[in-house]
Parts: sequence; structure tokens; C-alpha cells
Amino acid sequence: MASIAAQGVGSMFQTQLRIGASRLNYLMTADIRAFVDQLQGAGVDRWIVVTTAGDWADPRLEEIAGALGASAPVTVLKLAESEQSKTLETVEWLAREAVRAGTTRASCFVGVGGGVICNLTGMCAALLYRGLKLVQVPTTLLAMTDAVISLKQAVNAAGVKNGLGTYHSADVIWANPAWLVSLDAAAVRAGLAEIIKNALVISPHHLAVLKALLRPEGGYDGGEIAVLVRMALESKQQVLEHDPAERGRALALEYGHTVAHALEILTDGMVTHGIGVGYGMRVSARVAREMGMLDDTCVSLHDELLAAAGLQLRLEPATSAALSIDGLRCQLEYDNKRGYIATAADELAMVLITAPGAPQPRERPLTKVPIDLVANLAMEHLR
Ligand SMILES: NC(=O)c1ccc[n+]([C@@H]2O[C@H](COP(=O)([O-])OP(=O)(O)OC[C@H]3O[C@@H](n4cnc5c(N)ncnc54)[C@H](O)[C@@H]3O)[C@@H](O)[C@H]2O)c1
Repeated sequence: MASIAAQGVGSMFQTQLRIGASRLNYLMTADIRAFVDQLQGAGVDRWIVVTTAGDWADPRLEEIAGALGASAPVTVLKLAESEQSKTLETVEWLAREAVRAGTTRASCFVGVGGGVICNLTGMCAALLYRGLKLVQVPTTLLAMTDAVISLKQAVNAAGVKNGLGTYHSADVIWANPAWLVSLDAAAVRAGLAEIIKNALVISPHHLAVLKALLRPEGGYDGGEIAVLVRMALESKQQVLEHDPAERGRALALEYGHTVAHALEILTDGMVTHGIGVGYGMRVSARVAREMGMLDDTCVSLHDELLAAAGLQLRLEPATSAALSIDGLRCQLEYDNKRGYIATAADELAMVLITAPGAPQPRERPLTKVPIDLVANLAMEHLR
């Protein structure tokens, strides 16, 4: 069975997300005319479409370039879509090619792809001429439900996941559920991991729906995808509306990310972002239990939800063999939440919960945790 079934992809909704002063028009539909209608009157003199090469991308690109070309010339820039290409060099290449193609302050970047393409496009739109218009067309479940629902744009740098970045808002986001049918099972599960995270840390009222909806074999139809996307938008809006820079309440979104980012960097992207968040949440739950903050029932709930979505609870043998405790400890020291709260050299600032929907403390959910404890529990429970 395909991970996303083609039935019901005609379901459509439109909403406006409030993130600080920014307004992101989010449109979920398989109808490209509804997307093009959103762009009417934008006064764009050139569309710079950033995407990837590949069987799944080519037909989508043709459709988008054809539709946008009716209002302004289209320049297509294709990248390799992998965590390794998420660099400042790639952003510079994009900027150079965009300028060569005639980009002006009235031009608009359009990212068509997963979170990597959307982040690279967002970074380039933010930096070129100190900020150009941005439209995002996320094509993975994770990008639709997470990567583009944020003002954060970043690339990996200096050995740090998302080490260089800035804030920039998309004006329009178009999520086409019909395009998810070509996603492989791992990519669907990666998106589900972030949605499970939102339920565990922000929206416990979503847990019952998730338990009823998730199944390891996938095969979600368009109606179910719409439910999942709506849940993600609601959770993210709840914390981002008054914390657009994600430095206070919205740090809850980083649940599971401390270990996830370390695994992504240490495995050179073999452990992908969403899959890493699943592993990271298992470790976070066990850290909280060890610190007397979380009970066994809630720790087990993490595993039940991840298993229900078909996510592995332990690393693949090859990844596991390559992971050393020293390597993990060193990488954890570079966690990008360092400095939000004062920590000793052998401590981390980590998002922990005391119950579903209860990150501690709520206004800036970071807890000081010994790095050794995190590394030891990760080795014990992920290998
Ligand atoms: N800005 C933020 O706040 C934020 C939040 C979450 C994640 N992210 C970033 O997003 C990235 C992960 O995004 P991702 O999970 O989408 O991974 P990805 O962008 O690497 O895409 C995963 C794979 O799916 C393929 N793909 C994309 N769309 C497809 C489709 N419709 N059919 C078939 N294959 C398709 C891609 O070519 C790629 O090989 C990470 O770099 C992460 O840091 C950013």
C-alpha cells in the first residue's frame, strides 16, 4: 500500500496563520487555479522557482512553471535535495543564478520541495537584496506541517545543524495533498513524528485523534492528511503567534530536537530530521523520568505513538554501529539552544515535559540536564 493514498485529495481548506506581525496564507488544495488566484495582484516581475531534479519533481515543476508563467517570466533553479546541500554555498549559488536571470526587488522566490528546499529558498529570499517576496510549495508531509510553518530559515554551518539562519516570512504557502502520494514510507513517518511531538508537548487534546488515525502501514487518504495538517497548524499557531522568534513558549517545538540534531549531524543526514525527532523524544522522555519529572505511563505513551506511526524505536544497525558515546557527547555540546539559560559546561538546556502538553516551565521550556545523562540514555535506548 502507498504511504499516502490518492483518495480524497480533493479536500481543500484555506487559513491565515498569525506569527507575530506576519500573516501566512496557507492553502491546501489539489487545484492549482486556487493557488494562482492567491498570487493575483502580487506585482511580481519574475518568479524564481527553486526545486530539485527527479522523477517526482519534474511533473510538479512543469505544472507550476506553466501556471506562474502566465503572469511573469519564470526562472527555474534545481538543487540536490539533501541535508548536505543545505549550506551557505548553495544559497550563494542560488543568489548568483537569480541575479544573472534578472531578479529585482519585485521578484519572488518560490520553493517547491521538502524542508531542505524550502529552507534554502527561504534563506535566499531573506538575504538577497535584504529580503524578497517568498512563496513556499512544500511537497513532503514534514515540510507542509512544520518546516514552512515558521519564520525560521537556516542552513547547516560550522558543524551546527541550522547554524546560520535568519527570520523571513512566506506570503503564501500552497500544500497540494495529491503530491504526497509519491513520498516513501520513511518520509511520511518523518512528518508524523513532528505531529506526534506537537500533540505530546503542546496539544494533548490531539492525542485521541492521533491514536485512532495512526497505523504502521500508512495508506492515509486525503481527508486524513487534511486532519493531520490542521492539527499541526493549530499547534504551531498556538505557540508561534506571540513568540515568532521561537525564543520563549515556542521553544516547546524543540522537543526531541536536541538528540535529533546531534544524530542528523553525526550520521551526515542518514538519520533524517523527522525520524531523528522520534528518537529524540524517546530520549527526552527517559531523561525526564530519570530526573523525577515524568511517569512510566507517559514514557510508554511516546513509544506507543511512534510505533503506531510505524516509526522504529531503535536506530538501524548500521547507524547504531557508527554511533559512539564520545561522538554523541561532543555533538550534544554544540546544541543550538545553548545560552538561552545559564548552564554549566557539562550541562544542556533541553525541552522536557511533566505530562502531555506540559513543557517545563511553560513560558521558556528549558531544563538544565547533564550531558552525560542524555548521552548515556540515548546509547541505552536507541541502540
Ligand atoms: N524552518 C523550520 O522551522 C524547520 C522545521 C522543521 C524542519 N526543518 C528542516 O526541514 C528539513 C527536512 O525536511 P524534509 O523532511 O521535507 O526532508 P527533505 O527536504 O530532505 O526531503 C526528503 C526527501 O523527499 C523527497 N521528496 C520531496 N517531496 C517529494 C514528493 N512529493 N514525492 C517524493 N519525494 C519527495 C526529496 O527529494 C528528499 O529526497 C531539515 O533540514 C529540517 O531542518 C525546518
